Order: sequence, then C-alpha cells, then structure tokens
Amino acid sequence: MATLDRNDLETLRPDGRIRLRPAALLSPVPVVLVGCRGTTEATARPNLIAIAWTGTVCSDPPLVSVSIRKSRFSHLQVTESGEFTVNLVDASLLRAADLCGVKSGRDVDKFALCGLQAADSDRLRHAPTLAESPLTLECRVRSVAELGSHDQFLGEVVGVTVRPDLLGEDGRLSLDRANLVGYLHGEYWSLGRCLGFFGFSVAAPAVLSRRMKGRG
Ligand SMILES: Cc1cc2nc3c(=O)[nH]c(=O)nc-3n(C[C@H](O)[C@H](O)[C@H](O)COP(=O)(O)O)c2cc1C
Repeated sequence: MATLDRNDLETLRPDGRIRLRPAALLSPVPVVLVGCRGTTEATARPNLIAIAWTGTVCSDPPLVSVSIRKSRFSHLQVTESGEFTVNLVDASLLRAADLCGVKSGRDVDKFALCGLQAADSDRLRHAPTLAESPLTLECRVRSVAELGSHDQFLGEVVGVTVRPDLLGEDGRLSLDRANLVGYLHGEYWSLGRCLGFFGFSVAAPAVLSRRMKGRG
C-alpha cells in the first residue's frame, strides 16, 4: 500500500483511531479502460485512458460515471463526441491498462502501443470498444459536472457487450470467471475467493450450501 504523507496524519483520537485529512479514499475501486475518440482531425485517433474514478450511479436508467481531469487528451475527445466506452480490465490487460494510464493519446496511439484492437460499436458513432475486454459498456454522455480537480461525465449505458465464455448456457453472466482487477490505493490486486452472495446473510441453509458449493 502507498504510504501516507506524515502531514496526512492528524490527531490520535481518544478511541485510538487516527484522523486523516479528508480524501476520497474509497477502496477497492475498479480500474477500467475508457475508450474515446474525438470528432476533429486532431482528435480522431481512437484512444484509451485508464480510469479508477468510475462508478455505478443508477440502474434504471443505467448510468455510470467517469471522472477525468481537464488536462487529459481523452477529456477533449469525450467532450467532443459525447460518447465513451467503459471496458473492464482483467489480469491479462493490466500491463496495458497501466501503460494507458501513463501515456497520453496526444503523443501515442495507445491501441498500437499495447497491441490492442479497437472495434466499432454498433450503438455509438465515435467511441471505440476494446475487443480484448471481458465486458464493455457503451455510454452516451448525459451531463458533465465540473467538480474541481476532475470533471464527472455521467454516461447512459446504451449497450453492453460481453465475451461469450462469460455467459452460461442459461444466459447467466459469470464475471467471477473474468479474472478482474481491483485498485487499492495505488496498487492493483486480483480478487480472491467468493465470500458470499447478495442476501446470503438471510438465505435458507439449503440455498446457502447450494450457492456456495465448490466456491471459495
Ligand atoms: C490506475 C490508474 C487510474 C487512473 N485514474 C484516472 C482517473 O480516474 N481520472 C483521470 O483523469 N486520470 C486517471 N489516471 C491518469 C490517466 O490515465 C493518464 O493521465 C493518461 O495518461 C491520460 O491519457 P490521455 O491524455 O490519453 O487522456 C489514472 C491512471 C492510472 C494508472
């Protein structure tokens, strides 16, 4: 874990806990590759940006957010096109994701640099999808909130594509098999074993043993 600056530590409280400076320290968060493309000659090259400040905002309508600094090339591309894709990152994409988080699309073609394939979306006009990603959300920008260090793009999910091996015969999505990566205060971590499922705390014993059989 990245060390905290001594200045981030304040008083030792009576309960023994240490108060830190206010910071958005949610953890774990996903790291995703956001696909974008601008609408002018200067911005038309398909691009990928690594984003950790992303989140689910609403399920109906399906809304997600990505927060991007104004200085990023991708900020300009998303602003121009009003579109982006959110591509989930698995362990095999992690090195590329990190590279897409330190290089700018202003200077390099990140798809070519990482040996990745940009695919067209049949839901969007501009933003590319990442062919190698386990699951992709195709998003149209609904609104932009200028918040300070980052602008938050709120995107409506207008399409979802998934790698076929992640769908069971019954159509069930099995993201547990995708080997997804989490981001914890500056470090990438794989996910461990399954600890439970939605509602497991109140599930009947038979349901619990059926659902947890062979897991974990
Ligand atoms: C793991 C990771 C997460 C990142 N998350 C964000 C983020 O949420 N918002 C952001 O503006 N930049 C984020 N960055 C930095 C950008 O990915 C980086 O500045 C990138 O080079 C910008 O590319 P662009 O100029 O092509 O847009 C992150 C970088 C890494 C490595």
